[in-house]
Amino acid sequence: MIVGVPKEIYPGERRAALVPASVQLLAKAGHEVRVQSGVGMEAGYPDGLYREKGAGIAPDRPSVFEEADIILQVRGYGADAGHGKTDLKLVRPGQVLAGFHEPLSNPHAAGELAKKGVFLFALELMPRITRAQGMDALSSMATVSGYKAVLMAADRLPRMFPLMMTAAGTISPAKVFIVGAGVAGLQAVATARRLGAVVEAYDLRPAVKEQVESLGARFLEIPLEAEDAEGGGGYAKAMDEAFYKKQREFMGRVVRDSDVVVTTAAVPGKKAPVLVTADMVRAMRPGSVIVDLAAERGGNCELTRVDEEVMEAGVTILGPGNLPAATPYHASQMYGKNIASFLLHVLEQAGTGEGVGGFVPDLADEITRDTLVAKDGEVVHPAVKAVLEPEE
Ligand code: NAI
Repeated sequence: MIVGVPKEIYPGERRAALVPASVQLLAKAGHEVRVQSGVGMEAGYPDGLYREKGAGIAPDRPSVFEEADIILQVRGYGADAGHGKTDLKLVRPGQVLAGFHEPLSNPHAAGELAKKGVFLFALELMPRITRAQGMDALSSMATVSGYKAVLMAADRLPRMFPLMMTAAGTISPAKVFIVGAGVAGLQAVATARRLGAVVEAYDLRPAVKEQVESLGARFLEIPLEAEDAEGGGGYAKAMDEAFYKKQREFMGRVVRDSDVVVTTAAVPGKKAPVLVTADMVRAMRPGSVIVDLAAERGGNCELTRVDEEVMEAGVTILGPGNLPAATPYHASQMYGKNIASFLLHVLEQAGTGEGVGGFVPDLADEITRDTLVAKDGEVVHPAVKAVLEPEE
């Protein structure tokens, strides 16, 4: 098969769907790779490195789509509604598309692509099973975000992070509070610890207490009835407003005493819970920093605005929308490994048939079935269908 990688066109997107090392993975399995010239330039991978690993360099976007059987992207049409539409004219029936496509929040883009007769795979829908861990691009990107969020906070904070005993006196360490200790949160805990901060973390899934403590941070115990807070796949369940109200009350003291608060709390398919109110922000010391990683899902802080810097009573609130793009070298390396492993898996399972392109996805395979959004002109994923045609 010929695998094509166009340059990302979403504003500020600096990642590439494949890096030279992941090209090599596909080449070893007998596939040809064509990347658009400049595809990895902003991530730190010039064309020459791709060429060395066996990729062909295509001069422009249309020629990548024209030559390739399979198109790999970081942000497909659904995840780049503004610019991705141009791809509708370039795709052809039987072509396989894989990447982030946000089919649940933008099902109409998936519907439009389906009508073009492509096989559409969305990496967001990867099942959370051990077998799929090496293909889980969302977790990879959450790792990058958790790391970067702490660096952003450290950069803004008018204080230093570590304890220092100097001739000019003792510098006390920064106090960092991480809300939500999933993939991003645990990486934020680890990064803040490496920088020498005193770290506290909370998650409503009690199972993460041990992980937080193993990173040298304190787990905040909140006496809330949250035994069944764990949903499927390690995700949290949505709780009711009375629960969140109590949680805010218990967290109030820690938020007030923290120099940095990083919030990552999310519930799949739901708006992020508001866990830091405007009043809680106003009670913090001036100069404190909040980095809200849930910004795009509505924000864990009441005052967050996506991709903006809000200042309230001397407290800075950052709501970065695309942090992985701020660390594009390693974000692309991880994403490339995830998507190449995914593609090899799907192709290994697939059969060949009469249809256009001859690609027949194996629907008995959980990874293939769960990530496949569209085939044969239709949206086939039940959850995406449900948001697209709620009345049916
Ligand atoms: P996520 O991004 O959906 O949520 C982040 C965190 O916020 C979660 O830990 C969640 O429990 C927490 N949260 C939700 N509501 C909260 C509240 N009110 N207060 C405090 N915290 C709240 O989840 P993420 O980080 O993608 O994954 C969560 C867990 O799933 C991971 O820690 C891991 O154990 C598991 N996982 C399993 C995988 C696999 O088996 N293949 C792959 C990835 C993650």
